[in-house]
Amino acid sequence: MARSFVEITDLTADEIWEVFDLCKKMKSGEIAPKPFDGKTVGCIFHKASLRTRISFETGIYQLGGQSLYITEKEIELGKRESIHDAAKVLSRYLSTIMIRTFDHQDVLDLAKYADVPIVNGLTDLTHPCQIMGDYFTLLENKEKRDDFKIAYVGDGNNITNSWLNLASRIPMKFYIGTAAETGPDKAILKKAQDAGISEIKLTTDPDEAVADADVIYTDVWASMGQKNQADEKARILKAYQINSEMLKKAKSDCLVMHCLPAERGKEITDEVMDGPHSVVFDEAENRLHIQKALMLHCMGG
Ligand code: CP
Ligand code: NVA
Repeated sequence: MARSFVEITDLTADEIWEVFDLCKKMKSGEIAPKPFDGKTVGCIFHKASLRTRISFETGIYQLGGQSLYITEKEIELGKRESIHDAAKVLSRYLSTIMIRTFDHQDVLDLAKYADVPIVNGLTDLTHPCQIMGDYFTLLENKEKRDDFKIAYVGDGNNITNSWLNLASRIPMKFYIGTAAETGPDKAILKKAQDAGISEIKLTTDPDEAVADADVIYTDVWASMGQKNQADEKARILKAYQINSEMLKKAKSDCLVMHCLPAERGKEITDEVMDGPHSVVFDEAENRLHIQKALMLHCMGG
């Protein structure tokens, strides 16, 4: 089995720091490796994307390769033929495969059967590239410490789950402020708590979540594939909006993060998103750099 990146927990803590280091060197231009010279990387998309698609395609080009945009329409993954057979065939053409899809199990199966690295570009369960890039953004903005308080407020979703996975490798205080019915994945939460690396708290009180936080993070209240629940979630999660009042409860130099796309006026106000604490566009930029580092890591560094 090739070295894939399906979960942040596929990496040890040391490997996570190695990836951040690689990322820093590539972003600064200190190194500019071309491991994909003459090679093709497949990018499978079963959901919409701006950042992931464009940053992967640009990053693959910068690493010397060509990218191939593949949608459900072409390959009908798991329908026209089994994931096993598709994985075996794709591995004969491609150097690495990035996939964004619904069912997390499909990505695990692809990684199991492929002979080349598989990179998770978001599933219903996790979004690991995003959170690696976000932590890198945090490190760019603050002195390295192992006790940042990260407050995630809003829907407990794939972003929350990936933060939990990072918290099971790197020490932090990770507080989730969400309603009783919108919590994160229970198994991932338990695993992160059992790892004993970080202080992890789930609360329905947004004030408790953001008190003295170094970072306040949010995401859309209804993720892709759940847009039919948007009104219901907006009703349940109203109290978790990041606005100026909420910001006053965090540290005075706290960062505001959002993976984007945002639904301005719902989970975050314009004032905060465009305000001095916001690093949302740095996060978007860092997707490019972190994914290059992650692909390089999968290929052996
Ligand atoms: N943050 C993120 O993954 O954005 P896209 O859905 O536009 O790729
Ligand atoms: N939770 C969001 C993240 C988008 C990058 C979604 O899955 O739609």
